[in-house]
Amino acid sequence: MQPKLIIHGGAGSSPKSKEGTEAVRQSLYKILEEAYALLCKGSSAQAAVVQGCRLLEDEPRFNAGTGSVLQSDGQIRMSAALMDGSAQRLSGVINVSRVQHPIELAQALQASTDRVLSDYGAAELLRELQVPIYNPLTETRLQEWLQERQRNFDTPAAGVVAQVVDSPRSGTIGVVALDQQGRLAAGTSTGGKGLERIGRVSDSAMPAGNYATAEAAVSCTGIGEDIIDECLAARIVVRVTDGLSLQAAFKRSLIEARQRQRDLGAIGIDATGEIAWGKTSQVLLAAYHDGTRIGDTLELAEDAIH
Ligand code: GLY
Repeated sequence: MQPKLIIHGGAGSSPKSKEGTEAVRQSLYKILEEAYALLCKGSSAQAAVVQGCRLLEDEPRFNAGTGSVLQSDGQIRMSAALMDGSAQRLSGVINVSRVQHPIELAQALQASTDRVLSDYGAAELLRELQVPIYNPLTETRLQEWLQERQRNFDTPAAGVVAQVVDSPRSGTIGVVALDQQGRLAAGTSTGGKGLERIGRVSDSAMPAGNYATAEAAVSCTGIGEDIIDECLAARIVVRVTDGLSLQAAFKRSLIEARQRQRDLGAIGIDATGEIAWGKTSQVLLAAYHDGTRIGDTLELAEDAIH
């Protein structure tokens, strides 16, 4: 089967400049090509998703891993989930600190009987796996937080992309893959909404934000509370399982979300190799490889769904 891949670096408001858009595009394409090459060499969808997420977590312009936003108390707490579609199994970590690749913890939990761990449990897992302590803080995110402190934290959420976006929005990274064996997987990782209160739980490690079956796989981005209220990833996937095409499932779910003034975006692939995306936010920072060409969603019309 021809492998397919789609990745995202968040959703939010329009990049400030043409240069900002181009820099995001180059970052996404580089990561897309590296993860797609794995699929062409026969890697599983799950392995390609984990590697794609690792690379996106390492890119400081995106809000996951290195470059994660700070919460209201100035700390970074990250969340990530991995769902293997063929096993229909989700694993993840919620509000984990001091780790370079939260998605690797989610991957380690795929084989565990306890598959979603929060703060203390995730920290314990880090120790068990002997993962080196890592500080994901960047100077840009620190300066953003210090500016917010001067404004007395009157902004509802931090910026989706460091230095590129003017108005505040939430961000996430995500990868969805279909491998040569026809297996699907989805992974999502985030620093959260930014400036949130301690203990707030992101959608990214829930089936609302990241879901996959043998029929379809979806990763979401945007304001977590909106994604949870729509149960967006699971909603789209279940519609495909019940017989809608992936594009029809995206269209119906995004129209509903728009009617309820949600601020979000999603990417997905189905078992036939169809790739889809949709957003209610101004921009969705996604790029895809359909086997013959690379494309992206960076300059789509505001209400575009594919
Ligand atoms: N979608 C990421 C978050 O709201 O935490």
